[in-house]
Amino acid sequence: MDVLEAIQTRHSTRAFEDRPVDKETLTKIVADAQHTPSWGNSQPWKVYIATGKSLDNIKQRFASNAEDGVAENADLYKVHRGDFSSFASQNMGHWVGTFRPVIESDPDSYWDSRGNLYRAPAIAYLVLDADPNSWSIYDLGAFSETLMLSATGREVQSLASYELVKYPDVIRDELGMPKNKVIAMGIALGYEKSDKKLNAYRSDRVSTDQILKIVD
Ligand SMILES: Cc1cc2nc3c(=O)[nH]c(=O)nc-3n(C[C@H](O)[C@H](O)[C@H](O)COP(=O)(O)O)c2cc1C
Repeated sequence: MDVLEAIQTRHSTRAFEDRPVDKETLTKIVADAQHTPSWGNSQPWKVYIATGKSLDNIKQRFASNAEDGVAENADLYKVHRGDFSSFASQNMGHWVGTFRPVIESDPDSYWDSRGNLYRAPAIAYLVLDADPNSWSIYDLGAFSETLMLSATGREVQSLASYELVKYPDVIRDELGMPKNKVIAMGIALGYEKSDKKLNAYRSDRVSTDQILKIVD
């Protein structure tokens, strides 16, 4: 698959098959992501991948925290729609409007999948050292996209989701991660369930002329 095809076909997968991704493939995906450029080649990222027993434990503890009403406390705190620009907020509203009918068409599947961290067989946690500056967060965002494009090219599907990082202490504990590491994002990796309406959904984008100005 060439790079343009990977860019144009990557999409968020919200229900995965019960089939592991082998460690060699996971390692290659992360090695590809290391080609991402970064400020001064600082390469501020670290990646912890939960699979097998550690991931089962994370899924179980996330589910029981949610059931017990434990407050979410993601390291990069949750931002609400009203805290975005009006343009971004409008786009989010549009996305919710197109995605909600998908949830409503089969709510049990959606909530079951989300409540079990999309049943992903692997979750890559993207981690920064304490007090990351804005450039490290910028660099990590780029790393995240390279990782997902590599996954696409290797026929592994992905989802970056806040849901995967909302109880970071559980993740640090299960993965033996030092307490001062910032878990910026989680990316679910696996093989897409093909029978799901959830996975047939594709988000759209604003027209390019709304975000681009070329000046002669
Ligand atoms: C930082 C970030 C957080 C996200 N959190 C969620 C989430 O909590 N739940 C979800 O269903 N999708 C989540 N997504 C996926 C976005 O909804 C998705 O990327 C967007 O709608 C565009 O769709 P696409 O990835 O299929 O192109 C997140 C994506 C990013 C980059």
